[in-house]
Amino acid sequence: MPRRGDPPVRIEAPAKINLFLRVVRRREDGYHEIETLLQAITLSDTLKCYGAPTKREFILTCDDPSLPTDERNLVWRAAAAVRAATGCDNGARFFLGKRIPPGGGMGGGSSDAVATLLGLRQLWRLDLTDDALDEIAAALGSDVPFFLRCGTALATGRGEVLTPLPDPPPLALVLVAPPFGVSTPGAYRAWQPVPEEELPSATDCWDALRRGDLDALGAALRNDLEPGVFAMHPELATIRERLLAAGAVAARMTGSGSTLFALAHDAAHAHRIATAVADLPGRRIITESYRAEQVA
Ligand code: C5P
Repeated sequence: MPRRGDPPVRIEAPAKINLFLRVVRRREDGYHEIETLLQAITLSDTLKCYGAPTKREFILTCDDPSLPTDERNLVWRAAAAVRAATGCDNGARFFLGKRIPPGGGMGGGSSDAVATLLGLRQLWRLDLTDDALDEIAAALGSDVPFFLRCGTALATGRGEVLTPLPDPPPLALVLVAPPFGVSTPGAYRAWQPVPEEELPSATDCWDALRRGDLDALGAALRNDLEPGVFAMHPELATIRERLLAAGAVAARMTGSGSTLFALAHDAAHAHRIATAVADLPGRRIITESYRAEQVA
């Protein structure tokens, strides 16, 4: 049992982008079968976990007042899932430093959930195997298991069946996060099937990424949720046009939106693109890919 005054366990929770997202079909269970190429990025939240003086109590504070700090927050749900899976009845106090835009399609909540699992395993000195962590993660959300390893991965099923891929050459990126989020169920509901011919495949995208061929990668980026989400939020199509006009190699929405990412040649190019779109509402974030080997 950790004691009061022990130093907190501090875990970084990186975001992700979907370089490729193909929706294969609607499933009977309400989910969609997808095929997606996920890339972790260095933009991250920070979770600090402290031992709590009272058993069976969670206290969550967050520097983003727009986020709930009760059982609606994935940190809370992940902590409850750890207790349910292990029978441990310890309490904990969390501080979540939020930098990943919520509702942005970058998996911030999912990554925070994994940070909670890893943080509590350390804080409560739990004997949780990788398989047990995988199972808890998959029950918390479709893209949660990815954050156990980060790096680059191909995901299928509803997003939880992962094939880890070796770290590709680094990517320089600009994100534009509009001042509103998009609901994931809404984005999937708006999806309509499109003919596959002439659309890039996940293999095209991974092949270009692995070789570090930025032009080929730009041509192989894909997000089947874009047309439905752009129809609901036409300003997102405008942001994409602006990023391309600013010299981005390519630009796409990540996940179910609302964030758009642009590929740049290097960090200096990413800064020039960000400056050229400085008038757009919301946040511009310069970031880069995060390697699996960076995970502690
Ligand atoms: O799994 P998660 O809780 O993140 O998914 C949230 C919602 O997004 C689901 O309830 C579903 O409506 C939609 N979704 C989907 N297909 C996926 C992933 C999510 O339809 N592959």
